[in-house]
Amino acid sequence: MQIIRTIGDLPSALRPWREAGEKIALVPTMGALHAGHLALIEAARARADRAIASIFINPLQFNDPNDLARYPRQEAEDAAKLEQAGCDLLWLPTAEELYPAGFATTVRVSGVSDRWEGEHRPGHFDGVATVVAKLFVAAMPDLAVFGEKDWQQLAVIRRMSADLGLPVEVLGHPTIREEAGLAMSSRNALLSAEERAKAPLLHRLLNDAARAIGGGKAAEPVLEEVVEQLKSAGFGPVDYLAYVDGASLEPLGGYRENGRLIAAAFLGQVRLIDNISVISDTV
Ligand code: PAJ
Repeated sequence: MQIIRTIGDLPSALRPWREAGEKIALVPTMGALHAGHLALIEAARARADRAIASIFINPLQFNDPNDLARYPRQEAEDAAKLEQAGCDLLWLPTAEELYPAGFATTVRVSGVSDRWEGEHRPGHFDGVATVVAKLFVAAMPDLAVFGEKDWQQLAVIRRMSADLGLPVEVLGHPTIREEAGLAMSSRNALLSAEERAKAPLLHRLLNDAARAIGGGKAAEPVLEEVVEQLKSAGFGPVDYLAYVDGASLEPLGGYRENGRLIAAAFLGQVRLIDNISVISDTV
């Protein structure tokens, strides 16, 4: 696996592959890699001839400076995992190069960014859209793979890429979960043993709600019930729990094709997010 740190080294690394007509896939990450990230590398390899991973802890998308300072940095371990997963190239851009002095451009995707995560983390999706646009323009991959774990992020990136006419196919990959159903996340390491035992309840309740909405029930009372159940199980504040259109992220009153249940809730100090599709049981 090649490792490059400067944008200037990208063209010479990619040229032989392009000249050979090979399809190139990019998997953007912020490092601290787990099995969810590595599944994206595998999907990239299955869909393209070459897989590139980027690791960049993007300061623009952190609304809390402490969160940025605390973000785990484990480059050598990540590089070893990527190499084992068959990644061809690891790109480690620097903030100085991506955001040189005088950098003044923000990519803002209105509508789909506004609610839910966007409301609770102001500026977050502007930071995500800006960095992903920069990564796409620098590497110009044929394909880029993102996790459905961050459903709204995926919707923002699809919208951005389509609106800017970027010639990159955006592929979503299903969420990788632990055995009990908890979506894998680097933040899970911060859960106490007791919280860890409770955490899978979020996914179980989402599944129950999906079945109820898919069976024809109105979304609102179903979601209210889930919030109650989370609270009585000892969860902290529920930032949002909503049934939304999977592309526009606008709320839906009841079953619709492409509907998605999305949630963010605290368990102790840890903010868990998750989402699942809702399938009608009448089709
Ligand atoms: P990061 O949180 O490192 O996640 C990198 C990619 O891994 C994202 O596409 C995310 O959705 C995916 N991912 C995380 N956990 C997953 C899981 N359990 N199953 C499947 N996929 C999972 O998301 C970001 O970084 C950043 O916002 C980024 C897109 C890199 C822009 O800075």
